[in-house]
Amino acid sequence: MGFIVGVTLPEREICNLEMERDEILKLSLGGKRVVVYGQRNTGKTSLLKNSIIPAFKKKYKKGLVLFVDLMGVTSIDSISERIRISFQEALSQSKPAKSYLVNLTNSLKSFRPNASIDPITGNLSFSIGLDKNDVSVPFSMIFNKIKDYHLQHRAMIVMDEFQDIAMIQEAESKMRAALQDLPFDLTVVVSGSKKHLLSKIFSPANAPLANWGIDILIPNIESDHYRQKYHKYINEKFSQKKLAISLEVTNDLIDALGNIPEAVNTVCSHILESGIYDKDINDQDIITAIDKSVEERGPRFEEYLAKMTTGEIEVLTLIAKHGPITSPKGKKFLRLVNKISPSAVFKIIKRLENNAEIYSKTKGYTLADPILARYLQLKR
Ligand SMILES: Nc1ncnc2c1ncn2[C@@H]1O[C@H](COP(=O)(O)OP(=O)(O)O)[C@@H](O)[C@H]1O
Ligand SMILES: [Mg+2]
Repeated sequence: MGFIVGVTLPEREICNLEMERDEILKLSLGGKRVVVYGQRNTGKTSLLKNSIIPAFKKKYKKGLVLFVDLMGVTSIDSISERIRISFQEALSQSKPAKSYLVNLTNSLKSFRPNASIDPITGNLSFSIGLDKNDVSVPFSMIFNKIKDYHLQHRAMIVMDEFQDIAMIQEAESKMRAALQDLPFDLTVVVSGSKKHLLSKIFSPANAPLANWGIDILIPNIESDHYRQKYHKYINEKFSQKKLAISLEVTNDLIDALGNIPEAVNTVCSHILESGIYDKDINDQDIITAIDKSVEERGPRFEEYLAKMTTGEIEVLTLIAKHGPITSPKGKKFLRLVNKISPSAVFKIIKRLENNAEIYSKTKGYTLADPILARYLQLKR
């Protein structure tokens, strides 16, 4: 198996994170609330979807698991809509008792529920529609139905990119009300890449969900221990084509790519698949491979930049070229900016941060995607 990029990883392809997995699983099986957070592209979704959820289902054979991705939700209605679709899927994969289904279809009557069981496979197909005013089932109502299920068997709710509800007026308080109504032992895992927004929802004493859940950090590959394991992970794949990399060069590679697994996989995949590298990968190969990966991704980056404003592109490029930026409000940074007022610059930074395009770390603001950063350095 080569390096996997851009999709969720099967469980066995997730490097590191054993400790994090054990911790999240223990809490999930124990009916707790968990907040999983970490930078983009560090394996959160893979871990939840392909390791935690299957393990939960293995333990609770009749369990119901709702997995919903809330990335980019724009309204309370769109949250409800995503949860409705996820609920349909969750039910189709579970084995609800007949009495539960009867009760469910009765209580959701205005949404024209439809349940049928395939006589051959025994699989359930369940659908709910919109009511006569075209309104979708409020998510609180679906949570209620999950609660009913949980009282018979077991249920678990997983909400990925959860912080995106923070952008929507009243969604936080509605979500809190819905979460508070759940039985104390119904597992809820929320996960997200935008730490500042997650903490906005959970941390402040007056925030609607203050003190909710146990935090689990999914780290990037900064520490020696994680790097050693990543080194082994890379060499196992490289050895298929008789390539090898020393720990020292691996460290340089990971440094150059901001400790992000996805970026490391992208560059390593190029090294493995292109056939232009000799046995021992050295630092010069790393530079070449990063530049080639940047070129390969060029068209995709252009597409992506086309969706941004010129101001956003300018600020993003300046951070790529001059970052980490310790104080975007400082004179030094503002002097670099062309024709954008300081207040507009702050707004752009906020927006970029809210979309997880940039992160504020101890050293200052940097781009979330190190390969995009390199692209902007070279091409803009
Ligand atoms: N722990 C890891 N081991 C190997 N590859 C990883 C790991 N974490 C992330 N990746 C890479 O990042 C990509 C995205 O992973 P994903 O689980 O979607 O991350 P997240 O949900 O944190 O953004 C994967 O396709 C893979 O290339
Ligand atoms: Mg994810």
